[in-house]
Amino acid sequence: MHPSFPSTRLRRTRTHDWSRRLHRENVLAPADLIWPLFVIDGEGAEQPVASLPGVSRWSVDLLLERVGEAIELGIPCIALFPNTPADRRSDAAEEAWSPDNLTCRAVRAIRERYGDAIGIMCDVALDPYTSHGHDGLLDDSGYVANDITLDALVRQALNQAQAGADIIAPSDMMDGRVGAIRQALEEGGHANVQIMSYAAKYASAFYGPFRDAVGSGDRLKGDKRTYQLDPANSDEAMREIAMDIAEGADSVMVKPGLAYLDIIRMAHDRFDVPVFAYQVSGEFALVEAGVAAGVGDREALVMEKLLAFKRAGCAGILTYYAPFAARVLHG
Ligand code: PBG
Repeated sequence: MHPSFPSTRLRRTRTHDWSRRLHRENVLAPADLIWPLFVIDGEGAEQPVASLPGVSRWSVDLLLERVGEAIELGIPCIALFPNTPADRRSDAAEEAWSPDNLTCRAVRAIRERYGDAIGIMCDVALDPYTSHGHDGLLDDSGYVANDITLDALVRQALNQAQAGADIIAPSDMMDGRVGAIRQALEEGGHANVQIMSYAAKYASAFYGPFRDAVGSGDRLKGDKRTYQLDPANSDEAMREIAMDIAEGADSVMVKPGLAYLDIIRMAHDRFDVPVFAYQVSGEFALVEAGVAAGVGDREALVMEKLLAFKRAGCAGILTYYAPFAARVLHG
C-alpha cells in the first residue's frame, strides 16, 4: 500500500461527533454576541418591524425585559437604535444631543435596573435625528459635509456617555470623528468609555430594513456613497481601519458581514485590535425569506453563518439573531 494510506486520510477524524468536536477550530458562544435593539416612545408599546420578521421596536419599559432576557442568556452587550418621533427630527439633528432623547432615556433605565450586568453600546450617527435621513449634516449644495458634522457627532457621543453608555460606536463614516470623540471623552471625564468604530462600513444595499426600523428610509434622498465605502474596495478599508486605530478606536467593525468576510480576515491578520462584524438587517431578512421559502432550517442556516464570522477572525458579532443563537447554544 502507498505510504500515505490515502483512503480516508483527511476524513477519519470526522467519523464521529466526539471527534468532530475534538478537532473543531472555532466555536461560537453567547459571549460573542451583541444584540441590536430598536427603541420607541411610549409605554407598553411593541411595534413589529414589517421588513424584519420577528424583530420589534420596544418602548423603554418593555426594552428592559429584552435586556433582562439578554443578561439571562449570557449576551454581554446590547446596541441601541432609536426611532425618533417625526417632530423631533430636524436638518441640524439637535435631538441627538438632547439629554432626554430616546437613547439616553433607555441607557439610564437599563443602568438603573441592571447596573453593570450588561454592556450598553450607542450608535453615533445623525440619521435617526435628521429630517433628510443622512448620517451627517448637509451643506448648501446638499453634500454631506465632514467638518461641520464632527461637532455634532462629538456632542452626540458626549451626551450618550453622560447618560451612561459603555461603548460609543461611530457609524457615520466621517473622517476624523474617532479622534475628536476620543479627545472629548477624555476631557469630559469619560476615560473608560470605549470606542468601537464602524471603520469599514460599506455603501450597501443590505441596510434597507434597518432604515425602516429607525424611520429614516422614506426620508433619505439619494444614497450614502459619498461617505460610506465603495463595495469594490478592500485596500481602502484597511486605510480606514488604520486611521481609526491611530485616532484611538478600541475595536473596529466591518459592515455588512457575510459579503465582506474577506475584509474581516484581512483586518484580523493585519491589525492588533478586536474586529467585530455587523450581520445587518438585510442579511437577517434574507435568511428569514429563505426559511419561509423552504430553503433550509433556520437554526442550521443561522448557526453556520454566525460561525463563519468567527472563522474569518471576528471577536464578536452584532446580530438580530443574538437571542435566538444564544438559546440554541444553551441547548
Ligand atoms: C446608521 C446605521 C445603519 C446601520 C447601522 N447604523 C444604516 C445606514 O448606514 O444607512 C445598518 C444596520 C442594519 O442594516 O442592520 N448610520
